[in-house]
Amino acid sequence: MDKLFKELFKKKPIELAIEEAEKTPLKRALNSFDLILFGIGAIVGAGIFALVGVASTFSGPAVILSFILAGLVCLFSAFSYAELSSSIPISGSAYTYSYIAFGEFIAFLVGWNLILEYLVGNMAVAISWSAYFKTLLSNFHIYIPDWLSSSYNANLSYAPKIFNIPVVFNLPAFLIMIFITFILLIGIKESAKFNNFLVILKVSILLFFVIIGFSFINTENYKPFMPNGFGGVLTGAGLLFFAYIGFDAVSTTAEEVKNPKISLPIGIIGSLLISTIIYILVAFVLLGILYYKHLNIADPLARALSNINLIWASSIISIGALISTTTVLLVFQMGQSRIFLAMSRDKLIPMLFSKIHPKFKTPYISIIICGFIVAIVSGFVDISSVAELTNIGTLFAFLIINVGVIYLRIKKQFIPVFKTPLFPLIPILGAISCFILMLSLPKITWIRFIVWLILGIFIYFLLRFVLNKKTI
Ligand code: ALA
Repeated sequence: MDKLFKELFKKKPIELAIEEAEKTPLKRALNSFDLILFGIGAIVGAGIFALVGVASTFSGPAVILSFILAGLVCLFSAFSYAELSSSIPISGSAYTYSYIAFGEFIAFLVGWNLILEYLVGNMAVAISWSAYFKTLLSNFHIYIPDWLSSSYNANLSYAPKIFNIPVVFNLPAFLIMIFITFILLIGIKESAKFNNFLVILKVSILLFFVIIGFSFINTENYKPFMPNGFGGVLTGAGLLFFAYIGFDAVSTTAEEVKNPKISLPIGIIGSLLISTIIYILVAFVLLGILYYKHLNIADPLARALSNINLIWASSIISIGALISTTTVLLVFQMGQSRIFLAMSRDKLIPMLFSKIHPKFKTPYISIIICGFIVAIVSGFVDISSVAELTNIGTLFAFLIINVGVIYLRIKKQFIPVFKTPLFPLIPILGAISCFILMLSLPKITWIRFIVWLILGIFIYFLLRFVLNKKTI
């Protein structure tokens, strides 16, 4: 028992982690600019194009404050990510930092929760992509039947039946995931180029929304500013946390960055700050042109413009939403495959996850497995059941990272390259605010989260037994 306990909490020596990263077979091709765009690619997506509407029903025009609040919570954690990733530039990100700080078992649990952030999060994003795609096609009078674009719980009386069971599958969600998997397979530089192009396009489309909408602002729409008091603002912030998830994915590219010690903090903090500014501007204009009570819809930005008879502009916004969700899918899938790569190198999951393609230099098996899991599951599930889980899993990982940075700094495990300002205040605030946001989530999410953790613990011991710490 004593031996098992020691093994569970055995820490990874930091020197070993750094040595592994230095010997990485991955291609070091990314610079600070690529990383900022990777960050914005992962951050700006379904949150600003869809979720802002639901959040507004709680916060009212003060959704602007909700964005600032959620951004602040993320900024605290972003500093911790920046410090750890620049000092331990290894693609396992939060998983590896936890291994060094708290040992194997906690590291596995953090890795297990990152699956909630990246893979389960991407299921939500893929379903949202499919919804926008369907709407856009219908503008051109092309209609995808519901049974080929819905989840199992939609009204599907028209669906074809096999053995009396209705056939339902979200085909667009499946196909976009296969496309993303293909892009990721062919190389990191190719993925970065594709991402950079789309990010510039999506930021331009959001700025277009701000500029074109600005002259239609009616200041009466800002009244009352806080219809549900500060409580409403907090609920809105809890929801909008989803809109910021992704800045941490930058740290998973650590082994593919030319100068990780400098570029990682720039990429993480830079992308978060730029996204926050974009969000505040968009929210300010959105709430100014459409009264908050009319915003509880799937496509609030597009609707706001069609409401002021700018139909053509509204179609551009729908295209922007598609582009935005595409980049989120891309960066999250990339992040997940890199985390599996690191976990497999540590022999916590089978070795095939760290196989690198000889030509493309990408962890191809990991990419293919992650791609198919998301493609198939998002073909069947509905968006809300997967989106809720994403926030809690991510907050858990952020919480551990904030505690980890305090622990490692006090233990003097490394000389930080980038230092979190106002240490230890910022990581303490980071940990507390993540915990408060976790508490604000509904009970059912907690139950699902606990079931997920128990499943993770079971799989951890099963894999320990099967792999017996030997390569397969
Ligand atoms: N932050 C990402 C989005 O809003 C997950 O889509």
